[in-house]
Amino acid sequence: MNFSMAVEISYLVASVLFVVGLKRLQSPATARGGNQLAALAMLIAIVATLLDNQIIDWTAILIGMFTGTFIGFWAAKKVQMTQMPELVGIFNGFGGAASALVAGAELLRLQSLNIDSTQGEGLSIVISCLIGTVTFSGSFVAFGKLKGIVSGNPITFPLQKTLNAILFIGLLFLGGSIMGMYTFADLPTLTTFFIFTIAALSLGILLVLPIGGADMPVVISLLNSYSGLAASAAGFVIGSNVLIISGALVGASGLILTLIMCKAMNRSLSNVAFGAFGGESTGSPQGNDDSDKIARSVDPEGAAMILAYAQSVVIVPGYGLAVAQAQHELRKVVDNLEERGVDVKYAIHPVAGRMPGHMNVLLAEADVPYDKLFDLDEINDDFSRTDVVLVVGANDVVNPEAHNPQSVIAGMPILDVDKAKSVIIMKRSLSTGFAGIDNPLFYMDHTSMLFGDAKDSMNDLVREVREA
Ligand code: TAP
Repeated sequence: MNFSMAVEISYLVASVLFVVGLKRLQSPATARGGNQLAALAMLIAIVATLLDNQIIDWTAILIGMFTGTFIGFWAAKKVQMTQMPELVGIFNGFGGAASALVAGAELLRLQSLNIDSTQGEGLSIVISCLIGTVTFSGSFVAFGKLKGIVSGNPITFPLQKTLNAILFIGLLFLGGSIMGMYTFADLPTLTTFFIFTIAALSLGILLVLPIGGADMPVVISLLNSYSGLAASAAGFVIGSNVLIISGALVGASGLILTLIMCKAMNRSLSNVAFGAFGGESTGSPQGNDDSDKIARSVDPEGAAMILAYAQSVVIVPGYGLAVAQAQHELRKVVDNLEERGVDVKYAIHPVAGRMPGHMNVLLAEADVPYDKLFDLDEINDDFSRTDVVLVVGANDVVNPEAHNPQSVIAGMPILDVDKAKSVIIMKRSLSTGFAGIDNPLFYMDHTSMLFGDAKDSMNDLVREVREA
């Protein structure tokens, strides 16, 4: 077997491992292994590429690999689960930039050899640079919105969509020139390419600015899909099968994830992209309630009594559980309840938290068995037969306003916890969730609010349930 055949086989092995790795991400039980398989595949692909093209020697490969491993390991350890969309956003941005740079480098190479890029390669270069650059600048705006560096409110101005359309048409025109179909203002191809890149950077920024912070996780998932498409196009540019395949896998899975999120919020992709959703909060914080609605509060002792004497309890975790990091204390409360013979289940809304699977990962950290976790479709009919629902730091995903056609969250599938005999809600105040709207559930007769940080309240509950 000669060297180039060994490289091709390595690429094939890497591609198969990517697919198997992705498949294993389908279940929380196999996800960790799937992730490791995909990481191994990436290692094989990188080493094979570097050796194949004899770009650099072993020392440089090892130094690069150790530096990259260190940064990746450090970032993954340091970043909180609630900041994961930001991290993914940055990674997408760099992925997009890498694809655009590959396209630029290939154009430079062709130019230095005096080869014009009218063939298929020219198209790949243009597509890779366009999508990669839009992904890069868009991802950094999304990152800024999530971090609060850029306003989370939709930033809109007159004729915004017209400007975007003009930019896009301009990009197509410049792209044709880069491909050698015609010349633009007698400019050299590299200058046109430079203008093209600046225009694509601007388009990325302009496309994400009008989208509200509340929709950023969806945008990041969409940009993730774009970064895959850009990588795939870069694969065509340099004739790399493994890049084409892995890019296509990222592109397709990112798009599927985006659509799952949109469905779980009952929003269309175009509504997310152009709807400027999620402005100022309309909620009324605790103590500032100027309406005549009254929310009944309960202390940990009272809540423990309600829970301990129930037959069936459903826990609804949300973003606040992740912020408070109260999953281990929650597990202790549940253990105590189960010791008393209470039947306890967990209801997982597809967009509870800040990314898909967020709650599953959080509960897995506390070793909650997977068979106690139920999806929205599986558990929604059970609420009417449930004694107590304990909502921990969740808000929008249990908001009955979703049934009100006038509401901004109208049609969003929600967990119908208001159907249960009694509801206990753990949060710090009456303030709103991500969507920025008030929640009538807080003021219902059978609802009790257990105010406070979820971790502190949960610690109190552990003690009180034991003593109940
Ligand atoms: P939210 O509606 O955002 O509500 C979370 C609640 O947690 C807040 O109202 C907050 O109330 C409370 N909280 C925050 N810190 C807390 C702490 N330390 N202790 C106790 N409570 C705390 O969360 P959700 O119900 O999980 O819904 C998720 C939202 O994110 C939805 O609007 C969804 O559409 C959106 N979203 C999610 C995704 C994915 S994929 N998950 C993607 C896009 C958008 P207080 O301030 O009163 O404590």
